[in-house]
Amino acid sequence: MIILGIETSCDETAAAVVRGIGDRVEVLSNAVSSQIEIHKKYGGVVPEVAAREHVLNIMPVVNQALEKAGVNPLNPPLQGGRVLNPPFEGGAGGLDAIAVTVGPGLVTSLLVGVETAKTLAYAWDVPTVAVNHIEGHIYANFIGRNSKSEILNSKQIQNPKSKIKNKIQFPALILTVSGGHTMLVLMKGHGKYKVLGETRDDAAGEAFDKAAQLLQLGYPGGPAIAKWAEKINPLKPPFKRGVRVVTLPRPMINSNDFDFSFSGLKTALLYAIQKDRDWKLRIPEYAAEFQAAAVEVLVHKTIKAALKYNCKNIMLSGGVAANLELRRQLEQAVKNKLSGANLSIPEFKYCTDNAAMIATAGYFRARRKKFTPWRKLKADCNLELK
Ligand code: KG4
Ligand code: ZN
Repeated sequence: MIILGIETSCDETAAAVVRGIGDRVEVLSNAVSSQIEIHKKYGGVVPEVAAREHVLNIMPVVNQALEKAGVNPLNPPLQGGRVLNPPFEGGAGGLDAIAVTVGPGLVTSLLVGVETAKTLAYAWDVPTVAVNHIEGHIYANFIGRNSKSEILNSKQIQNPKSKIKNKIQFPALILTVSGGHTMLVLMKGHGKYKVLGETRDDAAGEAFDKAAQLLQLGYPGGPAIAKWAEKINPLKPPFKRGVRVVTLPRPMINSNDFDFSFSGLKTALLYAIQKDRDWKLRIPEYAAEFQAAAVEVLVHKTIKAALKYNCKNIMLSGGVAANLELRRQLEQAVKNKLSGANLSIPEFKYCTDNAAMIATAGYFRARRKKFTPWRKLKADCNLELK
């Protein structure tokens, strides 16, 4: 099956084409138009500006994705001189379905993707699949990988007899950490989710962004904090002339549930720098301690949940999954505390918002015939993961 994915839930306009064969997914194209430069000057995403940019970018991005993938829905494959009825099975110009993010996200941004998908589905007579953005982040882990998280080449993906296993075993545990969400999800099978815990206030990425704003490091904050934190040896606590200058709390680390809270961490950082006249001289220390605190809580709760639910597959997803320290700490903890468990982390480009993950989630839904007629596609900014 060949699926076009469309993603416009926040500030990236993205379209991608994937080919799914059995449990394997190969990305044929992955186009992303980022608005980071535009929103930088405001220190965050301005919804009206994001929506306007999506309108300008969506069709060029969709065209780019289709062209790169060699898919032309206006020129569907012929059989005996007659156009096949959709859904056609891949083929030269064939497109089997359009998968689109319907929520959660900024409603004005979501609307652009949803209306585009509806229009194209009507014009091309192709079925549509509604995808939850969080589900998309989760499915970034199913792109071109085997169970050991090795990236497969396209020959291996396309060869159904290839010995390499491409299956993630269920139940799997997913830590989804993005600018809008922080969730621990138990995945019992394709499309079967149980949310074990989530943030009670700020999302992890949001906390990184706010911390970076406090430290005047610019937007987006996650990569900026990570860059400054790299200047400190992560194995040593941030000392200065023998005095530990920066200590921040690990919020809710010992709570009896799988929820998170990051707003207090950001406030603790604010109070710490307010008390420190020379904080600008210690930005690496503050950044490293903030990152260490956030990562420690995320890793601790993930391991606790994996032990409780006996998960042998742990997956990381969302924009904050691009954080190297989080990747390192989680890898170490899985090795030390969950012997035999497998950790899957998407490639960097599939961690932050992209449409390949949406098309992949869409493929697994389309395989189960979970289509939504285009007339019923609706943007839902508070869509829950079900
Ligand atoms: O998934 P994503 O692209 O968009 C949402 O769905 O929210 O995530 C964006 C978030 C931002 O908050 C950004 O600061 C964070 O991911 N992020 C990072 C890193 N790269 C992106 N956070 C920590 N470390 C990073 N290297
Ligand atoms: Zn996202």
